Amino acid sequence: MPGPLVGRHVLVAASGSIAAVKTPLLVSALVKAGAVVRCLVTPSAERLVSAVALASLSRHHCYCDGDQWDPSRSRPLHIELAEWADLVVVAPMSASTLSRWSQGSGEGLLASVLLATEVPVLVAPAMNTAMWHHPAVQQNWRVVQSFPGVVPLLPASGLLACDRRGDGRMADPMLIELAAAALFSRSEEGAIADRDWEGKHLMVSAGATHEPIDQARVLTNRSTGHMGVLLAQVARLRGATVQLVHGPISVPEPWCEGIECIPVTTADEMQRVLSDRQPSLDAIAMVAAVADLRRAERLETKVSKQQLPELLASGWSQVPDLLAALSKHRPRGQTLLGFAALAGEDAALIAQGKAKLDAKGCDLLMVNPIDRLGQGFGDQANGGWLLGHDWTHEMPLMSKLTMAHQLLDAMYQSHIAAAAAADGRNESW
Ligand SMILES: Cc1cc2nc3c(=O)[nH]c(=O)nc-3n(C[C@H](O)[C@H](O)[C@H](O)COP(=O)(O)O)c2cc1C
Repeated sequence: MPGPLVGRHVLVAASGSIAAVKTPLLVSALVKAGAVVRCLVTPSAERLVSAVALASLSRHHCYCDGDQWDPSRSRPLHIELAEWADLVVVAPMSASTLSRWSQGSGEGLLASVLLATEVPVLVAPAMNTAMWHHPAVQQNWRVVQSFPGVVPLLPASGLLACDRRGDGRMADPMLIELAAAALFSRSEEGAIADRDWEGKHLMVSAGATHEPIDQARVLTNRSTGHMGVLLAQVARLRGATVQLVHGPISVPEPWCEGIECIPVTTADEMQRVLSDRQPSLDAIAMVAAVADLRRAERLETKVSKQQLPELLASGWSQVPDLLAALSKHRPRGQTLLGFAALAGEDAALIAQGKAKLDAKGCDLLMVNPIDRLGQGFGDQANGGWLLGHDWTHEMPLMSKLTMAHQLLDAMYQSHIAAAAAADGRNESW
């Protein structure tokens, strides 16, 4: 399965923030993912990051303002670059470049490209905390987010080069690469930067839960959290405000940046978070693989290897059914997606899925076979069947990013239909 960035033309622009020292990492990652990359630096960025390094990593000349005035060019460079790109990434975006863009100024090569381009622009601002929170910067930030095709990647909080701790750190290059890949993973090409989830509040659960056996050992499963975290991040890129409740997960840390994460360990802890927050949510995606059993009593010691078989043989009870509980208590119009990790023949899986969907009362259920090569726990790809109450949609093997988009499409449609029904209108999709 070719990656979503293979052959895509990505123009990476750096403006004058110290975070420009990380731009080469981004360029290198995009090239490794198969993208055709061109780089552009503003005069200030040129003083902070080496144009030679960017040229070497992108295997192409790195453009700067002087190139605009090359008399051998028959077409203006800013138009050529704007039309060449499938995606423009501004990382980092300085306060000055942000200001120029928001005012519609074409001063300099990057500013003119930003006005001339008609493709999505992924923007990662970086600056000192006080600068970032300055009303003028915030005003400019609001303005550019209203431009078509702009996909904002909010700065993270952390230790800044000015020795201050706070908001203003550029989104991690791994997250920027993931966002670029996510944009090209949307099936409808024309919609890659649509922010259809804007204003919606989504909770995603991800990863496995751990139920203690004794002080040292746990009962769990092989879920890594990959699918849930990607679903959460893709929803954020589509404009949703996302909360992620997760058990222990093993995904690159930057993938969780920009999302409110609530780490938990057991099914009980996950249930408390979900029920506390359920009333204010528009949708919930239960992607977590909750462990099935828990011990009635908590053991505060580690039992010996010899005592273990006896301990494992009794004292277990079923964990609460989180999905069924959410379904029972959900407010009107809240959309609920469940996941069922199943194994077996296709027809039996679909039948089991239908029975689960009815029993649990959610709107959508993703039947996720975990016994097929190259998909499921820990893999990059996934497949199966998405079930609604009166339909079955086959999801052929696809990347987890593409699946995240398709699940969000289905949830969105279900949410709109439920809202229309609640309004008494007879709208269907
Ligand atoms: C060492 C150094 C670090 C800087 N870091 C930032 C920064 O992180 N964010 C920012 O907006 N400006 C930063 N600036 C200021 C910008 O470089 C300056 O505003 C410049 O005009 C930006 O121009 P440009 O947007 O055309 O690249 C820094 C300046 C220096 C000298």
